[in-house]
Amino acid sequence: MEKQDLIRELRVRVSSLSMEQVQPTPARQPQSETDPRTPENGNASVDNGQASTMPSVEDVAKLLDARPRQVIANGDSHRSLDERAFSEIINFPETSIRPPRSLETVKSSEYLDKLAISSPGINGRAALNGTPNQPRRASINEDDEPISPTSMVEGAWVALRKAQVMFRGKPVGTIAASDPTEDSLNYNQVFVRDFVSSGLAFLMIGEPEIVKNFLLKALRLQAWEKHIDCFTLGEGVMPASFKVLHDPNRRTDTMVADFGESAIGRVAPVDSGFWWIILLRAYVRCTGDHSLAEEPDCQRGMMLILTLCLSDGFDTFPTLLCADGCCMIDRRMGIYGYPIEIQSLFFMALRCARSLLKPDAGGKDFLERIEKRLHALRFHIRTYYWLDHQQLNNIYRYKTEEYSQTAVNKFNVIPDSIPDWLFDWMPMKGGYFIGNVSPARMDFRWFTIGNCVAILSSLATPEQSCAIMDLIEERWEDIVGCMPAKVCYPALEGREWQITTGCDPKNTRWSYHNGGSWPVLLWMLTAASVKIGRPQIAKKAIDLVETRLMKDGWPEYYDGKLGRYIGKQARKNQTWSIAGYLVSKLMLEDPSLLGMISLEEDRKQKSSLTRSSSF
Ligand code: GLC
Repeated sequence: MEKQDLIRELRVRVSSLSMEQVQPTPARQPQSETDPRTPENGNASVDNGQASTMPSVEDVAKLLDARPRQVIANGDSHRSLDERAFSEIINFPETSIRPPRSLETVKSSEYLDKLAISSPGINGRAALNGTPNQPRRASINEDDEPISPTSMVEGAWVALRKAQVMFRGKPVGTIAASDPTEDSLNYNQVFVRDFVSSGLAFLMIGEPEIVKNFLLKALRLQAWEKHIDCFTLGEGVMPASFKVLHDPNRRTDTMVADFGESAIGRVAPVDSGFWWIILLRAYVRCTGDHSLAEEPDCQRGMMLILTLCLSDGFDTFPTLLCADGCCMIDRRMGIYGYPIEIQSLFFMALRCARSLLKPDAGGKDFLERIEKRLHALRFHIRTYYWLDHQQLNNIYRYKTEEYSQTAVNKFNVIPDSIPDWLFDWMPMKGGYFIGNVSPARMDFRWFTIGNCVAILSSLATPEQSCAIMDLIEERWEDIVGCMPAKVCYPALEGREWQITTGCDPKNTRWSYHNGGSWPVLLWMLTAASVKIGRPQIAKKAIDLVETRLMKDGWPEYYDGKLGRYIGKQARKNQTWSIAGYLVSKLMLEDPSLLGMISLEEDRKQKSSLTRSSSF
């Protein structure tokens, strides 16, 4: 069929579809957004507006003009739209294109998918091993045939595009997971931390629009008044997640955000604001467009986040005091206090904000405070969180009850509190930042995000960064195993698990946050190893992922000491598992992309730490 005929046929078919089958494009353009205040009757925060979720006939025609390849979910064909009769595409069974129920999340993909049309072409760089705008196969290979890296990249792009969430006709994020076999719980929302992986992937292929929309949308949500019971949260808090609800009758899109008021444990996400700043800088670096970050709203948003973290209080440490479950590990796991993940993100966000804040727009005071905090934070983490064989031996021999400025054991850590596993586990070569340091408490567990982000932000010295990679290599089985990478090591077991997690059945040993393996961490591991010039580590980790991840349906996490089992309650089609893989592949292929998410050592503030045995 000729293309013109095809478009004509499509117009006829689309216009003849009934309301039950397809949501029409709204007659009106989106109105300006109303003041989105928290409703008086509850904690949920909502934002109403006109909906636009269905591509118009013109949009579809544009897609055809771009001559995309079609995506056939069952993998039966690689034929292009031009090659397929329209009836095959548009006469889907009634049941397969059920209209959205009122107030359910609507994804752009639900319709595009049914029309079996891939997303518009990518203008930016062609993705490795096959261009992402020309997916040939979207299916998960269910037999034992290995899936080639090329097919995996293509499949990942298809899945990532399907995960896009639309608000008033614009992509504003990606859904956390879309597993039809599991209760969605809150996985049908756009999580701020999860979207960073997706956002980086889109930026890397030259599609910054979704990232810009996301950044602006999160900013508007930050401006909401937030309550937990009778308590009002700080102005700067960014949401953990938000959800787009579509009302097909009123043709409105509504946004509901969660700032911790519906999260398990009611903890505000401390990391969200930091990730937001980090992504904003990645956007600026990638697009060269400074205007977004310079907008008064963006400047204000950054300052509000910083106000929360830089205000004076009773602190004696430059680190940030947090509740348990305030970051990627969002359930009780004994990370309360000064968790390394938050400290690394805090450090990175401060450095990013320093490069984005304008002194003349009220930022001068913040820039001075940032400078001071960075200096103190860098010293504190590099000195007190660092552990290698020599430092472990020092702590093992610590004297206790030391007073005065000359104390060596400043936090009064009792050597008996060093866990047994650590003595054997600590290699002669290598070192890492431990999980937490506070009075009489050192959490010696390994945490992957904190350590990788410490490398990326140059919180770690170049020597410490190398030592961290040495440790990863020395303890490969434990940290990487069969599926990169463990969120933390080792797992809490028995009585310790009972006390620390509160008997959490989801966080049993070697599962989920308690020693589970999370494919999303691949991109951080890749970025860290590329940064310190050891891409072979990333390559080895990616090879592992390519043996299983797509075949297993892109699970959220894996269980077991080696990460050999798909997690007990792991969602399939977990978006950040998909995006993390793509970001890793892209970065390994083109290391210059690393600049988006990495900061060089600050020349002004190089510290003069003494070398220890692992350096
Ligand atoms: C889990 C993770 C959290 C993530 C969320 C959505 O709760 O612990 O970090 O953001 O799932 O994927």
